[in-house]
Amino acid sequence: AWVAKNVLSRKIPGDFVECACYKGTSARIICDYVDFANTNKNYYLYDLFEHDDSMVHHAMPDHGITLFDRVKKRFESFSNVIVTKGFVPQILDEISPENISFLHIDLNNAPAEVGALDRLFDRLSAGGILILDDYGWRAYREQKLAEDIWLAARGYEVLELPTGQGLVIK
Ligand SMILES: C[S@@+](CC[C@H](N)C(=O)[O-])C[C@H]1O[C@@H](n2cnc3c(N)ncnc32)[C@H](O)[C@@H]1O
Repeated sequence: AWVAKNVLSRKIPGDFVECACYKGTSARIICDYVDFANTNKNYYLYDLFEHDDSMVHHAMPDHGITLFDRVKKRFESFSNVIVTKGFVPQILDEISPENISFLHIDLNNAPAEVGALDRLFDRLSAGGILILDDYGWRAYREQKLAEDIWLAARGYEVLELPTGQGLVIK
């Protein structure tokens, strides 16, 4: 919520992106907090919404065939929120914004998180902010290790927040 408010008040160009949104809870809190419907930005939300055992990440209780429709309904009053069902990172080649001010990555899946960085980090505007949701949590160590290498190669170091989230200001 702080990041959303911050990039809006600093007028950082670009849309908001969340990979992935699950039930849309974080995104809905942010939309309400910053009155997102009355901004000139779009909010791109991605998820698979369903789970099978071949996937690297773990299942969550609300995964299933109805979740995509439930999340779309949750955002029906926001014409500038685009909910897309698909596999990150490949789905980003089909639908994703050219410019980003807030990039929230929360896939619990190291290869997919690095794939999202590969596709989207270059589109983050100067002054835009990246949040790596589970960066500091030991259960998701693989993500942190991969992301540290990826970002260090581009001259960035992640600030770990007390929440366990990682923050990078471009
Ligand atoms: C922790 S949840 C996201 C929670 C959400 N960011 C929030 O704060 O409300 C992680 C989600 O990542 C999704 N996910 C994992 N790997 C994925 C992939 N490769 N493509 C799309 N979604 C993926 C899962 O389906 C799951 O719903």
